Amino acid sequence: MDEQLQKIKQDFLQDLKTVKDNLQLEELEQKFFSRRSGEMTEIMKKLKDLSVDARKKFGKLANEVKKELEDILIEKQIELNNQLVNKIADTEWIDITQPKLPVKDRGHLHPNTIIQNDLEDFFTSMGFLVLDGPELESDYYNFTAVNIPPTHPARDMQDTFYIKDHGPDSDSPWVMRTQTSPMQVRAMQKHGVPIRAIIPGRCFRNEATDVRHEHTFYQLEGIVIDKNINFSHMKGVLEAVAKHLYGNETVVRLRPKFYPFVEPGVNGEVTCFLCKGAGCRVCKNTGWLEIFGAGMVHPNVLREGGVDPEKYQGFAFGFGLTRLVMLKYGIDDIRNLQNGDIRFLKQF
Ligand code: DAH
Repeated sequence: MDEQLQKIKQDFLQDLKTVKDNLQLEELEQKFFSRRSGEMTEIMKKLKDLSVDARKKFGKLANEVKKELEDILIEKQIELNNQLVNKIADTEWIDITQPKLPVKDRGHLHPNTIIQNDLEDFFTSMGFLVLDGPELESDYYNFTAVNIPPTHPARDMQDTFYIKDHGPDSDSPWVMRTQTSPMQVRAMQKHGVPIRAIIPGRCFRNEATDVRHEHTFYQLEGIVIDKNINFSHMKGVLEAVAKHLYGNETVVRLRPKFYPFVEPGVNGEVTCFLCKGAGCRVCKNTGWLEIFGAGMVHPNVLREGGVDPEKYQGFAFGFGLTRLVMLKYGIDDIRNLQNGDIRFLKQF
């Protein structure tokens, strides 16, 4: 027993010499002290088989050796940690007197994000929430819930990408949302009424792309529901937005247009910011720029949102965010906004 103890101690000290980092130290600790098979642990286990006298004698000795080796382990650990700290201090220091390097090629926001942020600030200043919605949307929310039932011809104008076998109910197909309007219903269901919210977001359509059409683009939806909301509130809000975007002298023109989810529905134009209505290249000589659709929310849509149309009413609007960006920066090819061409993006 005595010899065994001495041998363990010798082996331990020998092994210790080769330890260079914490990992190796841990391995050493395991070899001698692991509960299951550590050499020192094994010897301690054997003590119980000795006679009373022998146990007294060797027990004391074994405990002393064990304590001695454990102390050595701790010391080694402290030594290794100090080494590590010194090494870091030697190699990783900061010269606080060094002048800062010029920042080259710092990134910046995409023009779409610039306009979106600006409008989010403007609408929050009027008490609107800013909500986010799913880009992969159920057929139900994208169409049916906003009063476009399966056989409705309005579906033809918004062909999109259908996703097969997706979601819990794969009988109802899922689509890449064609508009942010489904969020009208989701917002009412989730937040209840009264509500004032905008929903900026990415939309998708199955388009043959050209300078004015793209499979991916951005809209900014808005919804206001409360008691006694009428058409003039809608006009007031949209005029405020138009003036914020294009200046105080901007005039808004509303003309009737059919959208399934509103009644009455309008198409919204503003006087061209470039020619102030005289007619130019930007407005194609009409003097007007069409930038949104809007209307009083249809009772069917309110009902889908869990709202009683006899008690509450309101308006909704949808801006072509991508269109606003193109107008603001004079971008004449919509595809530039998505293609990631750095030469284009660097201009903003
Ligand atoms: N969702 C429509 C579109 O994509 C835009 C729109 C029109 C939104 C009228 C509205 C609205 O909320 O009231 O063409």
